[in-house]
Amino acid sequence: MLDTNRIGEAADILRNGGVVAFPTETVYGIGARAYDEQAIRRIFAIKARPHNNPLIVHVASIEQVDSLVADIAESAKNLMATFWPGALTIVLPGSARVPQVITGGLTTVAVRMPDHPVASTLIRLLGEPIAAPSANRSGRPSPTHVEHVHRDVGNDVDMVLDGGTCRIGLESTVIDMSPDIPCILRSGAITIDMIQAAIGQVTLHSPSNSTTEPKSPGMQQRHYAPNFRIIPVPRDAWAQTLDEWRNSDKPIGILCHRTAVQDESVTFYRHIPGTDEEYGKGLFAAFLDAETANIDVLLVETVKEQGVGIAIMDRIRRAQAIEKDNLNES
Ligand code: TXA
Ligand code: MG
Repeated sequence: MLDTNRIGEAADILRNGGVVAFPTETVYGIGARAYDEQAIRRIFAIKARPHNNPLIVHVASIEQVDSLVADIAESAKNLMATFWPGALTIVLPGSARVPQVITGGLTTVAVRMPDHPVASTLIRLLGEPIAAPSANRSGRPSPTHVEHVHRDVGNDVDMVLDGGTCRIGLESTVIDMSPDIPCILRSGAITIDMIQAAIGQVTLHSPSNSTTEPKSPGMQQRHYAPNFRIIPVPRDAWAQTLDEWRNSDKPIGILCHRTAVQDESVTFYRHIPGTDEEYGKGLFAAFLDAETANIDVLLVETVKEQGVGIAIMDRIRRAQAIEKDNLNES
C-alpha cells in the first residue's frame, strides 16, 4: 500500500533543500528539487560523481516538461505519448531555467516520467520536477532493492523511501532527439525496435566503435569494476567453461539464466530463470550479492542481443572490467 504520509514527509524534506532516495520502476534514484542547485550539488558529492555527468530530471506531467525544455519536436511528443510514464529518458534542448549543475554545462536536458506510484506521488506532492541519478555511488551498480540503497548511500541521504524491488531493474533507455536521426545513448527495457515502431529510424550509439565525442558524458567514465572478474558464458558453453574453472583454486560464482547449471558447490550461485526481462530485473542485485560472497570470478550467462538483451549485454560488458576506459556511466 502506498504510504502517502511518508511520501509527504519526503516531499517536505525536498522542499526544504534535502535529498531523498526513492524507487522508480527501473532502479532507485537519489532526488532533489531540480531548481535547488545546492541540493543538486549534494547529490554529486554523495555519489562522488564527476560534475560533467548530467542528471535526469523526473516529471509527473507534461506541463512540468514545458518549464524545463526550450522546444518539444513532434517526434519527441510522440515518444512521450507512446512510452510515458515509463523507462524512456528523452534528451531535449534545455530551457534557460534548468540549472547548469544538472546539465553539466550542456545545452540539452534529459527528462523522464517514471512509472512508479511512489516516484510519481513524490513529484506530485512536491509539485515540481525532481533531478535524480541512480542511487549508487559513482562506479557502482544501480540499486534495484531497497537494502542495496541503504548499504550504498543510506547514511548520506535524508530519507530512503521503500519501494521493495524495482520492476525493470535496468536503467532507462536514453534517447537524444537533437540529431536529425535520433540516437539511443543508453539501451534499456524500451528497445530500439519499440522506438522505431513509434517514430521511425533511430541509431544506436555504440561507445566501443564511436569515433566522435560521446554525447552522453557519463558514457566516458570508468566502468563499474566489481571486486571479481566477469567471464561471459554463452548458454551452450556452460559445460566447457565449468570444466575450465571448476578445478581452479579460486572461489568462483555462477549467474545462470536459460541454463539451470547443476553446480551449487560453487561459492556463489544464482539462477534467474524465465524471460530476458526477468534476467534483467535481477542482474544488478546478483552482481551486488556476488560482491559480498568474496569470489574471484563470476561466470555470467550471456543472452542474444535482441530486445532487452541489448541492454543486458551492455550492462554485462560494462561490468566486465575490460581494459578500455570508456564505457560506463554512474
Ligand atoms: O532509470 C533511470 O534512468 C534512473 C532512474 C533513477 O530514473 N536514473 C539514472 O540516472 O540511471 P543516471 O544519472 O545514473 O544516468 C543518467 C544517464 C547518464 O549516462 C548521463 O550521462 C545521461 O543519462 N544524461 C543525462 N543528461 C544528459 C544529457 N543532457 N545529454 C546526454 N546524456 C545525458
Ligand atoms: Mg547511474
